[in-house]
Amino acid sequence: MRILLLGFGNVGRAFCEIVEEKAPLLRDLFGVEGRFVGIATRSRGCVSDPGGIDIGALLKKESSTGRLGPAPSRGGRDAPSAVEMVQEMDYDLLVVCTSTTIQSPEEPKSFICGGLQRGKDVITSNKGPLFLGYREIRDFAAANGALFLFEAAVMGGTPFFSFARHCLTGSEVLSCEGVMNTTSNYILDLMIAGASFDDALLDARRKGYAEADPTFDLEGWDSAVKASIIAQVLMGAPPVPLEDIEVQGINQIKTRLLLEAAHSGGALRLVSRVEKGKDGVAITVRPEVLSPSNPLSRVHGATNGVLFLTDTLGEIFVAGGGIGPRHTAFSLLRDLIEVACSRKGGRGC
Ligand SMILES: NC(=O)c1ccc[n+]([C@@H]2O[C@H](COP(=O)([O-])OP(=O)(O)OC[C@H]3O[C@@H](n4cnc5c(N)ncnc54)[C@H](OP(=O)(O)O)[C@@H]3O)[C@@H](O)[C@H]2O)c1
Repeated sequence: MRILLLGFGNVGRAFCEIVEEKAPLLRDLFGVEGRFVGIATRSRGCVSDPGGIDIGALLKKESSTGRLGPAPSRGGRDAPSAVEMVQEMDYDLLVVCTSTTIQSPEEPKSFICGGLQRGKDVITSNKGPLFLGYREIRDFAAANGALFLFEAAVMGGTPFFSFARHCLTGSEVLSCEGVMNTTSNYILDLMIAGASFDDALLDARRKGYAEADPTFDLEGWDSAVKASIIAQVLMGAPPVPLEDIEVQGINQIKTRLLLEAAHSGGALRLVSRVEKGKDGVAITVRPEVLSPSNPLSRVHGATNGVLFLTDTLGEIFVAGGGIGPRHTAFSLLRDLIEVACSRKGGRGC
């Protein structure tokens, strides 16, 4: 499987490492040999080698020079840009791990659709294009006979879309409520333990759980984006602009409320709720006091969890600590394996 990888940041790098590490398993269990034929960044150059890039040597080069290769050309042909690589290279799988900007998801969407248009299978960890319009990309993939998978885009490595696709198949998902923002959840737990909001945020930053600008997470927008994607993928809802979603984050939360919830045996959590109703799908994101019987009340620290309500199975709860680049890269690996199995007519899956 010839892989073209766009984005060599935290996730892209971890994906290369995990594909190398799992090479024996990929070969022996699934009959796949993953070979990186192209890797692109925005500002640190692009590399390609039809015979397969030596990832170890590339990592060494990157750590000594800060670059992967020559800068993308401006009109010249010395080094291809990511767009040119998508359009012109020979590859089997396009992996899009570029930065997410919800305000401008058009660029990653154009990468994804550029690959799909050529009939290439595409997997991504990028939420932006899914939020912008999942169904359009899904239909475009189908029309071009290609697969489009995105397990890594929501909840890192915790099985979510693949779980719904494989384990809930035949069931209707009526609602889905989840603790989906690990930054917020980590901070809430520290506040229950006695930390102030500012100290908890500082700690989350130190441990790498909070971005340099955590506003998107703490004001609930990240949870809203995920909820909107879930509504589109699992319930067929149309995309909605962020301003049309009822969103409240944890940035105004009072310690008193957290302690009251804890004393009653439950917990206050930032809950994303997606519910099917007669008039369509309703999405809310807000801090909620959950009773002890709700499994989401036991989702602690930098972990996430989702409670599905289905027509046939009732409630199903999935939780995990699958956050961070390595776990996210594992979700990409899971998608890679699914693509490989699908191309072989299901053998090995
Ligand atoms: N980090 C996580 O744990 C995690 C979890 C779930 C989902 N995700 C999602 O996964 C994606 C990657 O995350 P990350 O943490 O790896 O981000 P990152 O460290 O910022 O890396 C992003 C990479 O994308 C490259 N890039 C951006 N625009 C590009 C373009 N137009 N053409 C080619 N390359 C481009 C960047 O190039 P430069 O190196 O030149 O800047 C960089 O290499 C994001 O969409 C993120 O939301 C991340």
